[in-house]
Amino acid sequence: MTDHAVVFTPSGRRGRFAAGTSLLAAARALGADLDSVCGGRGICGRCQVAVQPGEHLKLGIASTAEHLTPLNAAEARLEARGRLVPGRRLGCQAGLCGDVVVDVPPEHQVHRQVVAKGVDARPIALDPVVTLHHVQVGEPDMHDPRSDAQRLREALAAEWGLEGLRLPLPVLAGLQAALRKGGFAVTVAVRQRRDIVAIWPGLVESVQGVAVDLGSTTIAAHLCDLSSGAVLASAGAMNPQIRLGEDLMSRVSYAMMNAGGAAELTQAARGALGALLAELAEKAGIAPERIVEVTLAGNPVMHHLVLGLDPVELGAAPFALAEDAPLDVPARELGLAIAPGAFVHLLPCIAGHVGADAAAMVLAEAPHRDDPVTLLVDVGTNAEIVLGSRQRLLACSSPTGPAFEGAQITAGQRAAPGAIERLRIDPATLEPRFKVIGCDAWSDEPGFDAQVTGICGSGIIEAVAQMHLAGILRHDGSLDGGLAERSPRVREEYRSFTYIIREDAPRIAITQHDVRAVQLAKAALHAGAKLLMRRFGIAAPDRIKLAGAFGGHIDPLHALVLGLIPDCPLEAISAVGNAAGHGARIALLNAAARTEIAEVVRRIEKVETAIEPDFQQEFVAAMALPHATDAYPNLARHVTLPPRRSAPRRRLR
Ligand code: FES
Repeated sequence: MTDHAVVFTPSGRRGRFAAGTSLLAAARALGADLDSVCGGRGICGRCQVAVQPGEHLKLGIASTAEHLTPLNAAEARLEARGRLVPGRRLGCQAGLCGDVVVDVPPEHQVHRQVVAKGVDARPIALDPVVTLHHVQVGEPDMHDPRSDAQRLREALAAEWGLEGLRLPLPVLAGLQAALRKGGFAVTVAVRQRRDIVAIWPGLVESVQGVAVDLGSTTIAAHLCDLSSGAVLASAGAMNPQIRLGEDLMSRVSYAMMNAGGAAELTQAARGALGALLAELAEKAGIAPERIVEVTLAGNPVMHHLVLGLDPVELGAAPFALAEDAPLDVPARELGLAIAPGAFVHLLPCIAGHVGADAAAMVLAEAPHRDDPVTLLVDVGTNAEIVLGSRQRLLACSSPTGPAFEGAQITAGQRAAPGAIERLRIDPATLEPRFKVIGCDAWSDEPGFDAQVTGICGSGIIEAVAQMHLAGILRHDGSLDGGLAERSPRVREEYRSFTYIIREDAPRIAITQHDVRAVQLAKAALHAGAKLLMRRFGIAAPDRIKLAGAFGGHIDPLHALVLGLIPDCPLEAISAVGNAAGHGARIALLNAAARTEIAEVVRRIEKVETAIEPDFQQEFVAAMALPHATDAYPNLARHVTLPPRRSAPRRRLR
């Protein structure tokens, strides 16, 4: 029998096949990436290709549309419904009758790249964890004693080569109704060629998954289409556990002090997660049962609580995790009402204080794939710090406390409308000007009409850094009371000095106590980074990435003035936004990424700051602005730091 050459682009896969062979069959035989849900029945429209006509000299092929069998009824039907792009062919219907070069458009490849939103977010290569398979199942009759499940398995094996699939009870419970409703044609969602997670009557062409960043303050989730990677809806909610404990450690104490406390925290987390999934489904206009996979990234305490694991061991040294490996947990075990066989995938934890959120951050920023040494910091109440390159990766956490979230700061508040987020101080007059969340104008510009309610983390960092640049704060962090004679903004109150940003109610001021709280927080973060740098054997990182909802709002210049981070060229410091959330989305869409991060986490060297003999010394040195001993040559290129002087040894009046 005559055979013909076919070349698929962009993969470049080529081969010769007997006349009449469908392009889908040829693609499968060659391993060319061509999608299909209906298994070649001409109904899903996922297998579209475009003939590349012309003389392809390099390939030795004269390609033309006439080298395929004519458009058939199935194709004409899909074209009439607008589901087949005119000029394209269905790979499952078009047969070879000559040599052809065909292109598989990106949206018809299974493993295409999804361009992520966000400045630095790397594109995600699709590698679906859950795939859809439409099958026609044989109907039962009196002479055939095989069960519905057995006939389904046989159809999946014959049509898709899927053998030995697990069919859990909640999915099995819906099998018979789905088969009969669909006239024995059903679509089966299969996870990693191993588990059946859902069965629907008829043809189902898309399913969704949700990537969740389970933070101690907020929970953020994105609902994505698993075949296109597109984000269909996003939602966020406050973590309801806050009413049981403001920060993580107080929640661990709550679990220790109250009988049933851990269960209550677990219930709160699962309840919020369930509500978010329902909200996302509604926003995207899909049934919650279409959600077939969830990925979760969270710090170790959240990780344990959502799983129903007692977090008590995480409250004290040696901070033993119950489990650090990646986990696949049936969603129904967490009380989530989504597809009956859906799984929740939890990314691995790195150490007792460095959680799955840090692993997700590593997955998103991929320092392990690069030569430059990256310092990656998630600035939260507990900073998670990762340093390294292709060569080696180190991680630690550092107890920064809640100062950067506005807690324990006199006028501090969470980032919300009304909070001062940017601040500048005129060094000559010591007069401040500021910008408030929710208002585009600065406070000294026309059109400024914000209701000021407080100052949030990024505002606090800028306030302290600007106070230092203006000479109000000395190198050691003490307020220069002598300036009270020059400006009414500097005032003696309660035996120490205060800088007044705004006099009207609510008064916004930075007290000496506030400055100390910020110094303690930034010194903890800086000392953690320095320990990792010392272990790695470098004096400075090649670049710094600030992650997290808060990290994304920190101005790099002010972070350097404060000494929050080690000196680094300003242009090499970037804010990467919610890297943990992006990492959870990568893990949702790419099965190989799960293996990658599990392997990377295994070789991350964990550094426990609490037992490092040098930590205290580094911490004390890092209390100064920007640092007691380290020079900041890169910073000095942008600003003139005040001369290093400490508070005179005298008693306050
Ligand atoms: S594989 Fe479904 S239309 Fe071709």
